[in-house]
Amino acid sequence: MVIDSVKQILAEFKPTGWGKDLVAAGFVRSAALQGKSLTIALVLPFAGRSLFEQIKQDFDVRLRGATGATRIDWVCDIEVASLPRAQGLAAVQGIRNILVVASGKGGVGKSTTAVNLALALQKEGARVAILDADIYGPSIPTMMGTVKERPSSRDGKLMEPVMACGLKSNSIGYLVDEQDATIWRGPMASKALAQILHETRWGEVDYLVVDMPPGTGDIQLTMAQQVPTSAAVIVTTPQDVALADARKGVAMFNKVNVPVLGIIENMSYHLCSACGHHEPLFGTGGGQKMAEQYHVALLGQLPLHIDIRQHMDDGRPTVFGAPEGSLAQAYMKLARRVGAELYFSGKPIATPLYTVALDE
Ligand SMILES: Nc1ncnc2c1ncn2[C@@H]1O[C@H](COP(=O)(O)OP(=O)(O)O)[C@@H](O)[C@H]1O
Ligand SMILES: [Mg+2]
Repeated sequence: MVIDSVKQILAEFKPTGWGKDLVAAGFVRSAALQGKSLTIALVLPFAGRSLFEQIKQDFDVRLRGATGATRIDWVCDIEVASLPRAQGLAAVQGIRNILVVASGKGGVGKSTTAVNLALALQKEGARVAILDADIYGPSIPTMMGTVKERPSSRDGKLMEPVMACGLKSNSIGYLVDEQDATIWRGPMASKALAQILHETRWGEVDYLVVDMPPGTGDIQLTMAQQVPTSAAVIVTTPQDVALADARKGVAMFNKVNVPVLGIIENMSYHLCSACGHHEPLFGTGGGQKMAEQYHVALLGQLPLHIDIRQHMDDGRPTVFGAPEGSLAQAYMKLARRVGAELYFSGKPIATPLYTVALDE
């Protein structure tokens, strides 16, 4: 059968982090040959738009060869699935998935990673918003160039998110003085988080990325329990001390039954801006070892590069300000991996959105 060979070829597509291949996962919605024209419809239930280009590149020629088609029409869509929420908490209206970005300690690049990951998820075809819940150092307004902005309210009840580099955002930093927030105890902090989460008019959002306060104390624990999270990712640097803190982060989320999707190793190696030389400043293999030990994925390794810091200080994060560069590509790769791991780690809440319907 002609369509069987289409299936067989497309089934070779299985990027790292995918639980199943493109066909077995049901992402090929239909394939039909009419005369010399082959139409293939693909739907991905997570952010990964650039994978469509890769699929076309990898298989177009072979598909023509196998089917005798002289043209292929690709119909490609992203329809992000909603995944189960930890602790059975009710969803926030309009939000399909909440991804919390946490770290065992401050200064590891949690916010930098959260912001660029959010922007990359959006570039990969999802609708994304970002919530800065870091009461100790809300840095998203600075990083996204929105320091002077304040969320407005049309009805006196809900806040309108501040648009930051094309993302909907809200931040503790827009609302309170940093000095005030740092002395908050657990109940105050989680009340503020609940407000900002539930009283923002987010609209339709596929992924809400939440930049959590660093650390694993009571406040972080209380806050982690408040959020109807789909999964947490832990940002760490490769040093032993940072990894020890990251372990505590994994343990904290385990305690409150929030699944940890994996860890992101930031400042994994130094990438010299002058010569492109890679140097493992903080050692190698730490993130990998920890991931194996805790049976979580090592979702990505990001370089320490002067441009990443500079872009942040300029309020134009790398993925927004330099989207074509190799650093932005590293974040895009991370976003595709995170999207896929999230999808394959949990059963979507809705009945399966896609079934393989391969027409003859
Ligand atoms: N991969 C990186 N390369 C270069 N600088 C980085 C990188 N990640 C973070 N930084 C810089 O390190 C500092 C701390 O990062 P930040 O994201 O604020 O950390 P955290 O949120 O964990 O406290 C910032 O100045 C940021 O620009
Ligand atoms: Mg931060």
